[in-house]
Amino acid sequence: MILHLTINGREQAVDCEPYETLLNLLRRVGFTGAKRVCESGECGACAVLVDGRAVDSCIMLAAQADGSRVTTVEGLGDLRDLSAVQTAFADNGAVQCGFCIPGMIVAATSYLEENPEPTEEQIRHVFVGNLCRCTGYVKPVEAVLTAARRMRSGGNGD
Ligand code: FES
Ligand code: FES
Repeated sequence: MILHLTINGREQAVDCEPYETLLNLLRRVGFTGAKRVCESGECGACAVLVDGRAVDSCIMLAAQADGSRVTTVEGLGDLRDLSAVQTAFADNGAVQCGFCIPGMIVAATSYLEENPEPTEEQIRHVFVGNLCRCTGYVKPVEAVLTAARRMRSGGNGD
């Protein structure tokens, strides 16, 4: 079947099998920022935005995203133009092995759209769906607080 998706701002027609997951499709067409870890909706490493909402792409069929806007961590910013959340993760030293980080950044980006002035406790709650073995969550939570503060003052941290 042919799906029509807008991936990171670019419209694409992509052939896929009816049983293919969105995670598999995205990685197959080159967006490897979404990580393949548990493949059971437990770890959040595969999170992407579908029409602005964070979803675990390993438990969503690609066909369910037909006609949607899909944004991966690559679509949020790049090395020349990082998003506020990406910049804050770097500035706060919130990245260790990095495997969970795309999912954390996607989840935090989605949440800050809803709540631009989150408390530390609220951010910790956002990350219940993102397993991280390295950081203990302290630095990532600080990074989201930093990003939120900078976004409210109109900057991205540059
Ligand atoms: S790989 Fe999708 S939630 Fe873990
Ligand atoms: S930084 Fe290693 S799993 Fe989170």
